[in-house]
Amino acid sequence: MIESDLIAAAKKAQSNAYAPFSNFKVGAALLCDDERIFTGANIENSSYGLTNCAERSAVFAAVSAGQRKFKRIAIFSSCSPPATPCGACRQVLYEFAPQLEVICANDRGEISIFKLSELLPRGFRLEDSKPQG
Ligand code: THU
Repeated sequence: MIESDLIAAAKKAQSNAYAPFSNFKVGAALLCDDERIFTGANIENSSYGLTNCAERSAVFAAVSAGQRKFKRIAIFSSCSPPATPCGACRQVLYEFAPQLEVICANDRGEISIFKLSELLPRGFRLEDSKPQG
């Protein structure tokens, strides 16, 4: 799976975004260990706080289909520089893939690549957090 294919999948997913309130459309494509790709788009709601970001839509689709091992995510937005995942999405991604590669792209062809560990240093995992005793 080459980077440009994953970005193309995220761009296609962006077209399914439901963002009538912000008009800010985002698509995400998550590459699994077995090379399958799951995509997601942001889905807004009249009750604003119920909005789901593209990244979490993709993670939830993958995990619901039985996939939990992820190598890369591409996120496609239409701003410059390209949007990076919000804090909530960083934590959700961290649950499954602390070593994930995060590719942020936009329609100008700008691409930024990060490790999730630099976007979210010291993320929380319950299994790593032993109670004091
Ligand atoms: N959004 C995403 O889907 N992913 C991001 O990385 C940044 C923000 C969405 C949430 C909301 O629907 C809109 O963009 C504006 O915040």
